[in-house]
Amino acid sequence: MKIFLDSALIDQIKEVAGWGILDGVTTNPSHVAASGANPKDLYPEICSLVDGPVSLEAVSLEADAIVSEARELAKIADNVVVKVPIMKQGLIAVKRLAAEGITTNVTANFSAPQALLAAKVGAAYISPFVGQLDNAGHDGMKLVEQIRKIYDNYDYTTEIIVAAIRNPMHVVRAALCGADICTMNFQVLEMLTEHPLTDAILDRFLKDWEKVPK
Ligand code: E4P
Repeated sequence: MKIFLDSALIDQIKEVAGWGILDGVTTNPSHVAASGANPKDLYPEICSLVDGPVSLEAVSLEADAIVSEARELAKIADNVVVKVPIMKQGLIAVKRLAAEGITTNVTANFSAPQALLAAKVGAAYISPFVGQLDNAGHDGMKLVEQIRKIYDNYDYTTEIIVAAIRNPMHVVRAALCGADICTMNFQVLEMLTEHPLTDAILDRFLKDWEKVPK
């Protein structure tokens, strides 16, 4: 399963890339706002740091405008994936962009029918937001299971990016049900590397090592 960082912060992207586990990056307008940077400078820099797809979000709401925006974003680098929100105008745009060879990530997905339509119009990626579903009283990962089954039933090649991940168990469940990718923030990614029992045993080993004659 591929691991993406959900962030627009250069320092975080550089650090995770250094861990050797970074397969891609997803950004969104909130991340860009939090970075304080101008997207004109920020987007090319992120794309140059990542050896894998980088999702940059289109913010237009009408198909023609989404397509124009996506064409500009796609010029930034070869690894750009244009994020398009799931809605009627978004689907129209994704179909046209797919015909032009522009890769899209259909985002803000909260239902299986939405994911089915995204695959039908040629989205390269679908992003179900599991944490937000959990917060609304649903089991977000059930949606991922449904999408996996639907895509397998019809041999859709759209890759599932499990998004809005809040904890390591989201990642485990995503991997168990065969999701292609998990995208998560830096804090959750750090949690994946940690376990209190690992800390405890390392502590004991290092203390005992001090007693070894040298
Ligand atoms: C994923 O691509 C999104 O950027 C992200 O997961 C949005 O959801 P959140 O803000 O609830 O984490």
